[in-house]
Amino acid sequence: MNLLQTHKHPLLQFSFFFLSALISTIAGTPTISPGTTLYASNTTQSWSSPNNTFSLHFLPLDPSSSFIAAVVYSGGAPAVWSAGKGATVDSGGYLRFLPAGNLVLVNGSGSTVWDSGTSNLGVSSATLHDNGNLVLCNATGSVWSSFENPTDTIVPSQNFSVGMVLRSGLYSFSVLSSGNLTLQWNGSVPYWDQGLNSSMSVVNLSSPVLGLQSSGTLQLFYVNLSDPVVVAYSSDYDEGSDVLRVLKLDGDGNLKIYSSKRGSGSVTVRWVAVEDQCEVFGYCGDNGVCSYNDSNPVCGCPSQNFEMVDPSDGRKGCKRKVRLEDCVGKVAMLQLDHTRFLTYPPQFLINPEVFFIGISACSGNCLANSACFASTSLSDGTGLCYIKTSNFISGYQNPALPSTSYVKVCGPLALNSPPSLENAGEGKGWKVHAWAVVLIVLSTLFGFLVFEGGLWLWCCGNSPGFGGFTAQYALLEYASGAPVQFSYKELQKSTKGFKEKLGDGGFGAVYRGILANQTVVAVKQLEGIEQGEKQFRMEVSTISSTHHLNLVRLIGFCSEGRHRLLVYEFMKNGSLDNLLFVNEEEQQTGKFLNWGYRFNIALGAARGFAYLHEECRNCIVHCDVKPENILLDDSYNAKVSDFGLAKLLSTVDNRHLTWTSVRGTRGYLAPEWLANLPITSKSDVYSYGMVLLEIVSGKRNFEVSEETSRKKFSIWAYEEFEKGNIMGVIDRRLVSQEMDLEQVKRVLLACFWCIQEQPFQRPTMSKVVQMLEGVTDIEKPPTPKINSNVTAISTIATSSAPTCSLSSSFSTFEASPLALEGAQRTSFHPL
Ligand SMILES: *[C@@H]1O[C@H](CO)[C@@H](O)[C@H](O)[C@H]1NC(C)=O
Ligand SMILES: *[C@@H]1O[C@H](CO)[C@@H](O)[C@H](O)[C@H]1NC(C)=O
Ligand SMILES: *[C@@H]1O[C@H](CO)[C@@H](O)[C@H](O)[C@H]1NC(C)=O
Ligand SMILES: *[C@@H]1O[C@H](CO)[C@@H](O)[C@H](O)[C@H]1NC(C)=O
Ligand SMILES: *[C@@H]1O[C@H](CO)[C@@H](O)[C@H](O)[C@H]1NC(C)=O
Ligand SMILES: *[C@@H]1O[C@H](CO)[C@@H](O)[C@H](O)[C@H]1NC(C)=O
Ligand SMILES: *[C@@H]1O[C@H](CO)[C@@H](O)[C@H](O)[C@H]1NC(C)=O
Ligand SMILES: *[C@@H]1O[C@H](CO)[C@@H](O)[C@H](O)[C@H]1NC(C)=O
Ligand SMILES: *[C@@H]1O[C@H](CO)[C@@H](O)[C@H](O)[C@H]1NC(C)=O
Ligand SMILES: *[C@@H]1O[C@H](CO)[C@@H](O)[C@H](O)[C@H]1NC(C)=O
Ligand SMILES: *[C@@H]1O[C@H](CO)[C@@H](O)[C@H](O)[C@H]1NC(C)=O
Ligand SMILES: *[C@@H]1O[C@H](CO)[C@@H](O)[C@H](O)[C@H]1NC(C)=O
Repeated sequence: MNLLQTHKHPLLQFSFFFLSALISTIAGTPTISPGTTLYASNTTQSWSSPNNTFSLHFLPLDPSSSFIAAVVYSGGAPAVWSAGKGATVDSGGYLRFLPAGNLVLVNGSGSTVWDSGTSNLGVSSATLHDNGNLVLCNATGSVWSSFENPTDTIVPSQNFSVGMVLRSGLYSFSVLSSGNLTLQWNGSVPYWDQGLNSSMSVVNLSSPVLGLQSSGTLQLFYVNLSDPVVVAYSSDYDEGSDVLRVLKLDGDGNLKIYSSKRGSGSVTVRWVAVEDQCEVFGYCGDNGVCSYNDSNPVCGCPSQNFEMVDPSDGRKGCKRKVRLEDCVGKVAMLQLDHTRFLTYPPQFLINPEVFFIGISACSGNCLANSACFASTSLSDGTGLCYIKTSNFISGYQNPALPSTSYVKVCGPLALNSPPSLENAGEGKGWKVHAWAVVLIVLSTLFGFLVFEGGLWLWCCGNSPGFGGFTAQYALLEYASGAPVQFSYKELQKSTKGFKEKLGDGGFGAVYRGILANQTVVAVKQLEGIEQGEKQFRMEVSTISSTHHLNLVRLIGFCSEGRHRLLVYEFMKNGSLDNLLFVNEEEQQTGKFLNWGYRFNIALGAARGFAYLHEECRNCIVHCDVKPENILLDDSYNAKVSDFGLAKLLSTVDNRHLTWTSVRGTRGYLAPEWLANLPITSKSDVYSYGMVLLEIVSGKRNFEVSEETSRKKFSIWAYEEFEKGNIMGVIDRRLVSQEMDLEQVKRVLLACFWCIQEQPFQRPTMSKVVQMLEGVTDIEKPPTPKINSNVTAISTIATSSAPTCSLSSSFSTFEASPLALEGAQRTSFHPL
């Protein structure tokens, strides 16, 4: 065939290309010859692999105006590769394999959108293989392949190595040389980072390569490790012989394995990297808050101070209606309960923005810091606070999250209608119901305003310093902790006429009840309340807005005529005294707490008190700390109950409290109670110290016996401790058990510090937490004396502890520069 060998004539050359193009497009010839073109306008045209498993053709995204040139599985899976990483062209566009050897994607206007960059390398053929790889070859071999230039998908037999990246929008996926698999947002926030088993990473393995097996396992190969490491299993692993599985980085930022049965035309998700979609950074865009509607993630805005960037697509994020720099009013911190602003390591290593501070300081510090846009107090017992200084914040709201977040807005605050975030812009539903939502929002806001007006009037009478900003804060506070109001009849019904008594607390009897929605509750019938309705409601609102893992949650209240009742969450394991002090018979039944539980309870209760004293907005002195008021949930976590109630029983003359009506409990009362000196949070510390001693000894601290030489138990215990006889102090039932003696010693040392006679010598509760945790060294405490005189008066001023008044009037919210400086800067070390 002379013609083909000496095709120098341009016309002949042209006809050759035309011929081959025609042949290849019609017959699906394996090898694509230079000059061949696919047109966006003709989606039936394609280049296919030899056995038609894969084909390359244009896919319409929007039928009239946007197309991608993609390699597609015949089974109907999503595109596994596309030219120019998903670049789109209009209907005039085309994909051409140029005689120069490069593959180009050209827009209708004639501009080149993508070029394989392989011209002048002697590329003579392009082939789409049966595994889906599109390869450009010259005489020496492969010059370019789609497998080496992936878009957002990996197919079986594709090698994904260090340096390659899957991208989808701002999200990217890559394999690090350490073997870690990471998902990142905008190349800077790693929201998923999965490392190898520590036993593996010790060895210096080189060149990890990730591959998806056709059976459905995701494996890491190393050049010098014979057995690959399985990273993930698709849920249909090893099922079906004619199933194509692909690994794809979706537009939602999640890495998924999809399965598609050949010819079925449908795909199913079989594995996802980030199981909680809301944990994908930026899923709801800037300032967006992700939450769940049933099991689907939905996007919303933090409050009505924000609006969606695109009302038809919540994922585009939210923007402030009034920018902070344009704010003429007061800049305020909007509180979002059960919300976290996502912060992934090493975000806070680069720009230290994590502190160990309390909730109010977490909000106050952000308000005071002009670079800060939002903050999150984790409230998970770590005391961690994230200060968000970067412009992009990504929120996650879930009732199961203990975290509280704050975001800076230009006041006044305009809350979402509860349940918040329901009005997420999720397409049509939003538009149809927009008027209803607006109506609800307006009426709710009106309701709040009316209520808040009442509060405001009432509060101003009492507290002259009650400013405009605090008023907004009060509104917010009420809204966040909103307790449910029950009628007396309802509670009577739910407790079956106050039949099942759980106990007699210092403030009244407690009954078991079941609410209409089947929630089990504890109903407390308060006795001797001398305060009016208004004051009662104020206190209830304070109590119910005080949330902590180690505090019993107030669900609601009833205030009708003379009836005053509080409805609490029910604690399955009752109070600590029941498990701590058991008589001889009960001892045989075996229900007693081992040391591990006791220590956790001590620590949990200490955290609860530390929160009441130092971290929550309205400092609360408990005034009746005793084992009866430490309740245990299903997993024996300590939950402090009855906080904030002392206030209800006392008569208030604005600042000073009379204590005649507060009963306290024998054995736990700090000396200052008896000496008629001011009661501060340090009085609780004393009582807590007594509880600690009981937790260790399993005996009431006021029991006097021959064993203790008829001495006060705490004094005797100190003496024995001095002598080194720790085992003598410990609960006899624990002695035979395995226990951490260092921990026991720490607990006893902390206890002896707490029961110091002089309040100023006692540590603060947060210090106690640190002592128990073992993060600070504990000095030897002085002997706790008895019956010497107490000079507590001068100590309040000198003690470093905040002086908590029992007053629960809303504290004005001022950022404390001290808190900022005193906050412990730290770097976060993931395990
Ligand atoms: C589209 O391509 C197919 C196959 O190459 C061909 O048979 C058909 O005529 C083309 N249609 C148009 C409108 O060009
Ligand atoms: C292709 O051209 C259309 C208009 O013809 C234009 O809207 C589009 O942005 C162009 N695409 C690219 C990637 O240049
Ligand atoms: C084939 O491509 C390689 C680059 O991948 C190049 O180094 C080599 O020179 C090319 N061979 C020919 C014959 O052009
Ligand atoms: C096509 O070829 C691939 C690779 O050789 C093979 O795995 C697949 O089973 C083949 N499909 C058909 C339908 O023959
Ligand atoms: C992937 O890597 C393996 C082992 O290094 C090799 O045998 C195989 O040919 C590679 N596959 C592709 C498509 O490059
Ligand atoms: C992504 O990062 C670049 C710098 O790396 C930055 O300029 C850009 O604003 C970031 N995008 C967003 C949405 O924050
Ligand atoms: C790899 O991932 C582990 C968690 O699985 C993490 O602790 C480690 O820091 C990561 N290493 C790198 C280099 O990112
Ligand atoms: C780590 O390796 C051990 C033994 O090789 C295995 O039992 C364990 O499941 C692995 N853990 C993870 C998280 O892969
Ligand atoms: C691990 O291997 C890399 C190159 O493969 C080398 O640069 C590095 O020094 C090695 N590290 C150790 C601890 O051997
Ligand atoms: C793997 O190979 C690298 C370099 O090729 C070497 O540094 C490393 O020690 C090897 N590791 C093992 C476990 O053989
Ligand atoms: C039951 O009702 C109470 C009060 O209305 C509420 O606090 C609680 O969350 C409800 N529980 C469930 C499971 O819906
Ligand atoms: C209490 O002790 C101080 C000195 O420690 C003494 O000055 C004071 O008189 C004592 N008060 C009483 C009532 O004993």
